[in-house]
Amino acid sequence: MSAPPVVPRIEQRASLRGFNTFGLPAVAQTLAYITSDADVRRIVDHPDYGRAPKFILGGGSNVVLTRDVAAVVLKIEIRGRRLVAESPEAWIVEAGAGENWHDTVAWTLDQGWPGLENLALIPGSVGAAPVQNIGAYGVEMKDRFDSLDAVDLVTGRTVTLDAAMCRFGYRDSVFKNVLAGKSVITRVRFRLPRPWQAVRGYLDLERKMTETGIGNPDPRTIFDWVCAIRRAKLPDPAVIGNAGSFFKNPVVTAEQCRDIIGRDPEIVHYPMPDGSVKLAAGWLIDACGWKGKTVGRAGVYERQALVLVNRGGASGAEVVTLARAIQESVYGRFGIRLEPEPIIL
Ligand code: EPU
Repeated sequence: MSAPPVVPRIEQRASLRGFNTFGLPAVAQTLAYITSDADVRRIVDHPDYGRAPKFILGGGSNVVLTRDVAAVVLKIEIRGRRLVAESPEAWIVEAGAGENWHDTVAWTLDQGWPGLENLALIPGSVGAAPVQNIGAYGVEMKDRFDSLDAVDLVTGRTVTLDAAMCRFGYRDSVFKNVLAGKSVITRVRFRLPRPWQAVRGYLDLERKMTETGIGNPDPRTIFDWVCAIRRAKLPDPAVIGNAGSFFKNPVVTAEQCRDIIGRDPEIVHYPMPDGSVKLAAGWLIDACGWKGKTVGRAGVYERQALVLVNRGGASGAEVVTLARAIQESVYGRFGIRLEPEPIIL
């Protein structure tokens, strides 16, 4: 008879308050700390937890916990970073899903492998980056993605997915829908193209070039600029609970946009290659007068209306109540439905 599987570290009735950047109170009935692919398999094979629903928690920077979690929470703590391959075309760098995102970006620069600098200071973990195809200042995860490893929560097998299989979209991937709760990302590989080329077309970065007179910034300078820009308008989750942008920037047809511009000529909008138009959700929310407002213990950040914050002691329900009120007022004025970016549990 084989010995029962060794179980990863598991806690019952564990508080998740310290594990979500909003700082929302919630309790996990069962919390398992995952440090390897083998740990995932041990959960899959476990007599009590194998068939139970699972919730995968990375850095907790993209989740709103509105209640206690009955699903088995897998807290991903897989570490390790290395250069996998180097060619004249690219560096391929791999990082464990539990590595901190920003530290990993800084580490690649320290090693002399630039390409992730526009994505500096995004809260969360490496494993969460492909889930919502993180993006900032003209670069998205998908632009620097090679492949990832994930463990299937039914078979326990490790599989490798390329970019096409991940079905990346704007703040979206297969892990947010078809594979949600079904597959655990354990390692991500980035493809950092050589020779390095700056991505500096984003308005905030152009402004920095004008301010500093540096027209040809190196990767480290862009990293520093991105950090400075983010610090100036986004709250540090270690100080004020938040989950970054709370809503996606809505995409409308050119016709809808013309309509809205007719009524609100000031509206911030970006034409997309396919003819549709992306609107700045922050502008829409700001235009409805929400910036700096507080409802219960949740609020809208003073310097960026797209970010909802925990003013201290807020519950997930309070955050959701505020989010709904914002959605209603934006719909009432512009006829546009804002879609939340974080997963609401
Ligand atoms: N704006 C306002 N009022 C506000 C906020 C914004 O008028 O309160 C206007 C700004 O003046 C600007 C426009 O809206 O003209 C867009 O704002 P910003 O450049 O700050 O970027 P964003 O669209 O609000 C997006 C991403 C961010 C990312 C930045 C930089 C989404 C949902 N958000 O924000 O991503 O860092 O661009 O690339 O796509 C995140 O996803 O969590 C996130 C922070």
